[in-house]
Amino acid sequence: RAAAGTPQWRPTVHFTPAENWMNDPNGLVFHEGEYHLFFQHNPYSTEHANLSWGHAVSTDLVRWDELDVALEPDELGEIYSGSAVVDHRNTSGFFDGVEPGLVAFYTSAGETQQQSIAYSRDRGRTWTKFDGNPVIANPGIEDFRDPKVIWDEPSGQWVLLLAVDDHIAFYRSPNLRDWDLVSEFGAGRGAHGGVWECPDLFELPVAGTEESRWVLIVSINPGGPAGGSATQYFLGDFDGTTFVPHDEPDTVLWAELGADFYAAQSWSDIPASDGRRLWIGWLSNWDYTKQVPTEPWRGAMTVPREVGLVDTDEGPRLTQRPVQELESARGPVRRWSGTVSDEGSVVEYSGAALDVVADFTVDSAAMFGIDVFVGERSRTRVGYDVRAGELFVDRTGAGSADPGSGYRARHAAPLDTEDGVLRLRLLIDRSTVEVFAADGRVVLTDLVLRDGGDILRPFAEDGRVQLNSLEVYPIEA
Ligand code: FRU
Repeated sequence: RAAAGTPQWRPTVHFTPAENWMNDPNGLVFHEGEYHLFFQHNPYSTEHANLSWGHAVSTDLVRWDELDVALEPDELGEIYSGSAVVDHRNTSGFFDGVEPGLVAFYTSAGETQQQSIAYSRDRGRTWTKFDGNPVIANPGIEDFRDPKVIWDEPSGQWVLLLAVDDHIAFYRSPNLRDWDLVSEFGAGRGAHGGVWECPDLFELPVAGTEESRWVLIVSINPGGPAGGSATQYFLGDFDGTTFVPHDEPDTVLWAELGADFYAAQSWSDIPASDGRRLWIGWLSNWDYTKQVPTEPWRGAMTVPREVGLVDTDEGPRLTQRPVQELESARGPVRRWSGTVSDEGSVVEYSGAALDVVADFTVDSAAMFGIDVFVGERSRTRVGYDVRAGELFVDRTGAGSADPGSGYRARHAAPLDTEDGVLRLRLLIDRSTVEVFAADGRVVLTDLVLRDGGDILRPFAEDGRVQLNSLEVYPIEA
């Protein structure tokens, strides 16, 4: 089956399941030296059905080993999205007489959506569902899902965030089993063009200041800026019970403006000695994901990214950059510098999985950048439009495959150069494009069903641009 599939679109360093359907990342937790990545998975086909938690582990966030399916549907329903924690203090009582282990929180999606838990005493290899499930019953609301659990250090209790239709509900518990609703957030705040899904909450320092902010992540579908699914965030305070946003009520903040970054979640229990907040997103969009023609798998994750906050004129804003571990996937660098003009490119590289660092200085060109996945009659353009002041990914000419519903589009983000200098980090991986600019404040992630082209080539239009340095690394996990 694999031989008859679409190996030309199989990413090398981006996680994909060996076979069948995948959507959201679930249960992200670091435990005994392993990063766990559970995911929405149909073990039997490339359709969104039989939702289970697939499972992969990594010790370096680059090479993933797919393990057996962790949680399968039961009499309460399919296993929808959720989270996991290490119960260090055995608050749940699931680990009496043994080493503290993992507790997972998921939505049982049957006739109604309810929240259930399961635990593992063997590093996530096997799971026991709690016999008291559901732990949060459905109160008569259709969209009631995606529990995210965090530890509230000051009170020594657990907090659970739940996406409830158009808002986030906050619950608290001493023992991971008994949950009390304590607050709600969302009315009149942020984007409401679709249902709210997959919340997350963490505190981050604002780089270069003494301050920190709580970051509330809320995915929304549809209603995203590139159509369909997108990840929005709110910045504010959290006292263990209530989230209080700092921005004006009409502020809408998006993690990024590409089409394919959804349901992003961060890893729990990364040791304080590491100190990073790392997350990963599903690299697709509900608008067209069910028509994406990859075989024998359907669905990819982004690369794991480190998130941060930076101070801007509008206040703190989110930054993202690929985890530094990815640099271990780099092969020998090829370097170039020079002038790129509309008279034709002077340099090109081949490879459909490349990590690229480019440093441009604006000159006379109205538009410049890097064409990727260039074939005989196809290309994907990663560019900067000088007059518009925007960074863009244009996949309209990427190839003949078209899953429909607005897939054939150009996605742009406002971006100023720094005194005429533009620094880009670009990851391409056979069917994915991720662009990071402005130290990670501007990001675009797009799925690209390229037509087989694997040439990368800088370009300039209507004039020239200085390419101060170009570094191109092949990548392989
Ligand atoms: C988000 C989502 C979640 C749900 C899961 C079902 O993409 O819709 O809200 O739990 O996918 O697969």
